[in-house]
Amino acid sequence: MSSATLFRDGPPFRWTGSVPGDKSLSHRALIFAALSTHRRPSIVRGLGPGADIASTRSALTALGARFEGERVSSRGLRPPDHPIDCGNSGTTLRLLAGVMAAGSEITTLTGDASLNRRPMRRLVAPLEALGAEVNVAAGGTPPVSVRCGGALRGAPVAIDLASAQVRSAFELAAVQAAGSSKIDSPAGFRDHTERWLRHFGLGLYASDTAFVVEPGPIPVAEYHVPGDPSSAAYLWAAAALVRGASVQTRGVSLNPGRTGFLDVLRGFGAGVEVQVTGEIHGDPVGDVTVTGGLLGEVKVSGPLAVRALDELPLVGVLAAAAEGETHVADAGELRTKESDRIATTVGMIRSLGGTAEATGDGFVVIGGKLRGGRIDAAGDHRIAMAAGVAATVTEEPVTVSGAEAAAVSWPGFFDAMESVWSSR
Ligand code: S3P
Repeated sequence: MSSATLFRDGPPFRWTGSVPGDKSLSHRALIFAALSTHRRPSIVRGLGPGADIASTRSALTALGARFEGERVSSRGLRPPDHPIDCGNSGTTLRLLAGVMAAGSEITTLTGDASLNRRPMRRLVAPLEALGAEVNVAAGGTPPVSVRCGGALRGAPVAIDLASAQVRSAFELAAVQAAGSSKIDSPAGFRDHTERWLRHFGLGLYASDTAFVVEPGPIPVAEYHVPGDPSSAAYLWAAAALVRGASVQTRGVSLNPGRTGFLDVLRGFGAGVEVQVTGEIHGDPVGDVTVTGGLLGEVKVSGPLAVRALDELPLVGVLAAAAEGETHVADAGELRTKESDRIATTVGMIRSLGGTAEATGDGFVVIGGKLRGGRIDAAGDHRIAMAAGVAATVTEEPVTVSGAEAAAVSWPGFFDAMESVWSSR
């Protein structure tokens, strides 16, 4: 296990640049490209560099897709005679369960120790409604096996979780079914899959949250993956912590399901400017500038908690260095991520000398000064990076043990953080 020690000691920084390719969109670009079975290949540019994307790529290779540079081609996906290893990546496992639910042979998907503890029962009812056979281990965890006896049929489904992964799994199966399907859920989910399907003429929204999938072939396409707002968020947070600092990130995904953290930053009193510059298959992309402000307190709940879900450990760090009392609720899903992020976020803040308390579905943080100290990343990339951001304002250095976890989404993050701090 490696550790990283960080400490910022200098004037306010001003930084402009780009961040690695978006993780959610990289998974989807690879999967959409591997699902289109034409003679010409699809092109995928700007893929995220993290281990999770390598997991999707190697899983698709095991299913028969071919990758040559930016070119992705496929003659249809068929399971190998062994389980597919999805590594640490829940998105890989859940989305591929949907993709392969249309296959006549059994596909078995599994992962590392962390992924093999995560909940998969949520996939069963939506995929079974389409006629798939789905099996999970006794604890509702991987391995997950899927197949379809005959052809998948279209079906309407409503789920009670605002989960983009479950919705996408259903939609990627439904697009291969014999008739139309519909999925509804609570609001706040990132709707990348829905927007791309709509762009390709394979679906339409029936309401703000209900999406109708029309079956059909996914065309050959070019995918330009924009920057990852969930990675940019670490740099935005660093800027927010320092009066007079600013960070501008160019070309990040601005899907409304991804911009909750920007609303939280505004709530804390930071300056946030957003400019939409284009779109990729109907999904907005643009530039974001965050300037340091007085940090107050925020209340995060309901759809905002979903729209900022992956950034909630960072919300905890900001709140611990702010002035008021921050409440995060309706975020019980944090317990099902790469670590129990309610426990690990609260533990991180306390190890840094801050005041935080876990609740059933979130946490409460009382603002103050952060001392610094040693943090255990608990094998969770977002905890490792959030702790690194805290070093922007701690009185003493922060040592992150298990720092290598950051490579799941952003190898090189700690160097990037230091170069942001030293830019003028
Ligand atoms: C993701 C959806 C979210 C998010 C995860 C990536 C996706 O998970 O937390 O990091 O790419 O669809 P849920 O769908 O489980 O909420």
